[in-house]
Amino acid sequence: MASQSEEVQKVTRRNLLKGLGAGVVVGAVAVAGVEEMVRIPALPSGQTGTVTNTVTNTTTTTVTAGTASAVPVLSKVITLTVNDVPQTMLVPSNWTLLEVLREQLHLFSVKQGCDTGACGTCTIIIDGKAINSCQILAVEAEGKKIVTLEGIGGDYGKNLHPLQQAWMTYQGTQCGYCAPGFIMAAKALLDAKPHPTTDEIREALSGNICICGNYKKTYQAVASVGGA
Ligand code: FES
Ligand code: FES
Repeated sequence: MASQSEEVQKVTRRNLLKGLGAGVVVGAVAVAGVEEMVRIPALPSGQTGTVTNTVTNTTTTTVTAGTASAVPVLSKVITLTVNDVPQTMLVPSNWTLLEVLREQLHLFSVKQGCDTGACGTCTIIIDGKAINSCQILAVEAEGKKIVTLEGIGGDYGKNLHPLQQAWMTYQGTQCGYCAPGFIMAAKALLDAKPHPTTDEIREALSGNICICGNYKKTYQAVASVGGA
């Protein structure tokens, strides 16, 4: 029986159509303006497979199957800058940026909560703005500058950002699940407006939910860093 990597093979457009008819999972890889088709083995949910880039024939990318992977998935090579590091990777076209940041870049500060844009726990900064990463596809983030909690403190997480320090000082966390999203929303606010009023802080953080109800200390922490 062929291994998963052996199953990955270059196919022509005609074979692609045949493959689709046979229920094969197919990815489209675009590199340097060249579009190639590669076959990605169908993966049960939660399993990981290896995909060879048939354009350059030099790079191997690991793709982890999502929860609904038993359907054909197109993939694309995208380039992002994440925490000042350029990243080029093959991503399934239907994966959110949240999924790619967690599953492919292992940036686990980006939390998954509601997955519907309602809780804010997945908040990151894209080109200076606080964005729910569950509400944008990774392919839509092509060329964007992305910052996660891992990238705000300096020396890639070894130094604390003043907001992280304030979260500790003011006990901004109880269970802590919401904290990365709150801090990223607060950072976007302070970067744009270094001395916001209390109302402006509340407004900027209004898209973030804390199930523990720790809002008062959260606002105090932000105000201690940049309050008017
Ligand atoms: S997980 Fe993105 S807003 Fe809730
Ligand atoms: S501290 Fe628990 S959800 Fe906010």
